[in-house]
Amino acid sequence: MKIGVVINGALCEREAPENITLLHFLREYAGLIGTKEGCGGGECGACTVLLDGRAVNSCLVLAAEVDGKSVRTIEGEMRDGEPSELQQAFAKRHAVQCGFCTPGVVMSARALIERNPKPSVEEIKEGLEGNFCRCTGYVQIIEAVLEATGQPASMQELSHA
Ligand code: FES
Ligand code: FES
Repeated sequence: MKIGVVINGALCEREAPENITLLHFLREYAGLIGTKEGCGGGECGACTVLLDGRAVNSCLVLAAEVDGKSVRTIEGEMRDGEPSELQQAFAKRHAVQCGFCTPGVVMSARALIERNPKPSVEEIKEGLEGNFCRCTGYVQIIEAVLEATGQPASMQELSHA
């Protein structure tokens, strides 16, 4: 079937099997390999993208369901060829090690700060609860989101605030 999805602001139309997931559509038909496949079953968050502004696990969504809708992926985080403020904060705060989880974490963080521009530490934990990171540790990730939202970015500072 023909599937048409607006991805990062541009319409992408492809012939694809009707049972293909959005994750596979992005990676194998749209050439957007920034979105990662971890568990493939809705457990890890590595495949997180924004669907009409909401964070979803793209391994659990059929591409056919998304026909005519709008998706944002990690590739859409770039701003005039430069990493977004969120990506820069992840780099500055050493919130990336192997990087496999990072596209999904960044997209969940993007969804969070669009609905809540100054999230608290607890709200960040809730917003990222579906995203597993096996190597960096969550303190640096939380600090990166605080940094990106212009808040004191040290958990230690916060505990003394
Ligand atoms: Fe989709 Fe793990 S690959 S949640
Ligand atoms: Fe390696 Fe998160 S940076 S799993």
